[in-house]
Amino acid sequence: MTEPFILVSDCDLPGTVIEDTLRQAGLRADRAASGSPDDIAALSADAEGLVVQWAQITGDVMDRMPNLRIISRVGIGYDMVDVEAATVRGIAVANTPSYCIEEVAAHTIAMIMSQARGLSAYDRAVRAGTWKAVDARPLAVRPSATTVSVLGFGRIGSMVARGCRALGFRVLVADPFAPADAVREAGCEPVEIAEAVARADILTLHVPLTDDTRHLIDAAALATMKPGAVVVNTCRGPLIDEEALAASLRAGHIGAAALDVFAGEPLAADSPLRDLDQVLLTPHAAWYSPEALADLPVHAAENVIRYLAGESVPIVNPSFATAR
Ligand SMILES: NC(=O)c1ccc[n+]([C@@H]2O[C@H](COP(=O)([O-])OP(=O)(O)OC[C@H]3O[C@@H](n4cnc5c(N)ncnc54)[C@H](O)[C@@H]3O)[C@@H](O)[C@H]2O)c1
Repeated sequence: MTEPFILVSDCDLPGTVIEDTLRQAGLRADRAASGSPDDIAALSADAEGLVVQWAQITGDVMDRMPNLRIISRVGIGYDMVDVEAATVRGIAVANTPSYCIEEVAAHTIAMIMSQARGLSAYDRAVRAGTWKAVDARPLAVRPSATTVSVLGFGRIGSMVARGCRALGFRVLVADPFAPADAVREAGCEPVEIAEAVARADILTLHVPLTDDTRHLIDAAALATMKPGAVVVNTCRGPLIDEEALAASLRAGHIGAAALDVFAGEPLAADSPLRDLDQVLLTPHAAWYSPEALADLPVHAAENVIRYLAGESVPIVNPSFATAR
């Protein structure tokens, strides 16, 4: 009997840890020339597993993989996989939910604190020869007089909310699926999304990217925010209408932003966000630490190995059993 074949559609992490881990478990593994549907299809006829990082895995792509049983996403978000299409085809979709929770929460809180205390602006001013703590900009705030609104009270959002509470901020949480008692137990106030947006001095996003959440923060939502409010996004770029955000920042309504994720990545060389001093930019790096980098490809490969062995893995298809 031939060992099951697992295809890696794409992965920008260094090395071949995914393939090595699969092969060590006795599976066959290979990587597509690129994440394009044709390159995936070229190798996928007998693939029982697919490991994906950024390639778009649509129903059409799945239809070219008649033996596919599991798709394993290298990461937490799985917006590049059409989960509904997978579910109707009986294909499980798994993610790696635990590899970087602390890192993303820490990165988010670092971004919040940097903007709340005006660190980039102070740094630029000192390098330019000024020595002034009291200034119109930066607008360094007192945490207990500042409201942080957290959208999404999942693994990352709840850690960010608790961290902000520990630092003294007032914290509002909007998550229609989180029990209000759990939010209150964390010392935060449960509110609706519109209220969280409107009352925020600092808004931070931690909801999955879906058809419902794409452009959750659009021009209309930005217009309801307080003048001078700060927007932080370490989640997914398309949650925000980036052009509307840039326009609001240019107009001086939104006061500042800190962004790790963007509508298109890498961020375009001519993106208006690059020209705005009040925007802190990082290159989709919130997840990164050497430990997370070591865990991520192993977790993604292990999901396939375990699933094919009938063991439990983190499956994201609603109404799917954990192992089949
Ligand atoms: N920048 C990075 O490096 C990086 C790394 C990992 C994850 N992420 C992003 O972070 C996201 C969140 O990760 P997580 O582990 O906290 O996920 P999670 O599934 O634990 O939490 C998501 C939360 O969002 C809530 N939610 C869903 N729809 C909502 C809505 N419309 N409004 C408000 N809340 C809603 C859910 O109820 C859940 O509590 C991922 O989907 C991914 O896109 C980014």
